[in-house]
Amino acid sequence: MKVQQHNLLAAALALAGMPGAEAVLRFSCSELVTERLDPLVFPGVAQSPHLHQIVGGNMFNITMDPTQHNIGEEATCTTCTFSEDFSNYWTATLFFRARNGSYIRVPQRGNIDFESARGGGMTVYYAPGYQNQKVTAFRPGFRMIVGNPFYRTQAEASKFRQLTFTCLDTLYTRTGETTSMPTQPCREGIMANIRFPTCWDGVNLDSPDHMSHVAYPSSGTFESGGPCPASHPVRIPQLFYEVIWDTRQFNDRSLWPEDGSQPFVWSYGDFTGYGTHGDYVFGWKGDSLQRAMDANCDVYCPQLRTQSIAQGNQCRQQQKVRENIDGWLSKLPGDIEVTGPQPPIGGGGGNGGGNPTPTQPSQPAPTNGGGNSGCSVAKWGQCGGRGYTGCTRCAAGSTCRAQNEWYSQCL
Ligand SMILES: *[C@@H]1O[C@H](CO)[C@@H](O)[C@H](O)[C@H]1NC(C)=O
Ligand SMILES: *[C@@H]1O[C@H](CO)[C@@H](O)[C@H](O)[C@H]1NC(C)=O
Repeated sequence: MKVQQHNLLAAALALAGMPGAEAVLRFSCSELVTERLDPLVFPGVAQSPHLHQIVGGNMFNITMDPTQHNIGEEATCTTCTFSEDFSNYWTATLFFRARNGSYIRVPQRGNIDFESARGGGMTVYYAPGYQNQKVTAFRPGFRMIVGNPFYRTQAEASKFRQLTFTCLDTLYTRTGETTSMPTQPCREGIMANIRFPTCWDGVNLDSPDHMSHVAYPSSGTFESGGPCPASHPVRIPQLFYEVIWDTRQFNDRSLWPEDGSQPFVWSYGDFTGYGTHGDYVFGWKGDSLQRAMDANCDVYCPQLRTQSIAQGNQCRQQQKVRENIDGWLSKLPGDIEVTGPQPPIGGGGGNGGGNPTPTQPSQPAPTNGGGNSGCSVAKWGQCGGRGYTGCTRCAAGSTCRAQNEWYSQCL
């Protein structure tokens, strides 16, 4: 059994394109729920702007206040195969836009060996490092976000290392990662790869932007053993999600935009992929994650309790935000407007094949204060919305428009 598992692991590591010297904890988490909630960015708000697919423990909720609950001790089930992991992991969802402008959700599919994960779910990795260094596991209450849904350019996206896409020719393809969406049909689907920063300030479990308490190594990379900056001296495990979007039913080029560009758009209104992002709320029971890291576990980990994928599939939540997210939709859930470069809708002369008629949202949503002295929000950035307290002035050439009640954006 063990030998077999290790052979599997060698394959998995080769698959993930990782150096094989050190073990990497790798496991499957099935879908918990897919809905428009975001307890990190919009806590207490029973409708986040865009749709997410969420995996992990059943403490996921509209509000996840770490002073009220200890997720790792209070959750009662998880969709992950290491059954002491009640963390929540989530990303945006992907849609296909047909030539007529209608949208349909792209399903997910399970990774190799994890095919039976309900809803496809995601593969989660925690890497202790590849140079025999120790890592400090996250603490109860820890959470973070990587990526920014407002980004639409390569220059912006380059602020985050290692948020990429793999065009799967086979399920084993692990080369040719790109920072924008693949431009050609991908025979077996599109894999989104989300790797988080690996250095922590050692103090704050969260920060106002949910990012500044973590950082990338000051030189080199996590993989090369690069040192953490003095501001963020604590090495944390490298958290890594693989999510496979099952585009197979949409690979016929005759269904693609007439200009030949790719037809997939993220739930936050992005065709480019530069806005890709992932969210994490730590929820391992007790010191189980630290034990697994110290033991250099991989897919096989006698230090941890496990459950089958079928058992994980039995843990699920009802949508708290009830809405139709499947079948052909005339708008993205939450009435999210597509922003940034995008293919024209229609064609064949029917409606001129031109750009979609931009919908002009009414008034920018009211904001609470909002410092405006000398600040400027770059195009596509957030400039307002309920609860927003940041800068409300858009850079020259863009104006602040309400996407919905929850946020306004410089367009
Ligand atoms: C979510 O929060 C609500 C309100 O506090 C609570 O009633 C409910 O039990 C929570 N659900 C879960 C799954 O924790
Ligand atoms: C839009 O196109 C899709 C794919 O061809 C089709 O299934 C759907 O019915 C169309 N929707 C409308 C409103 O015409």
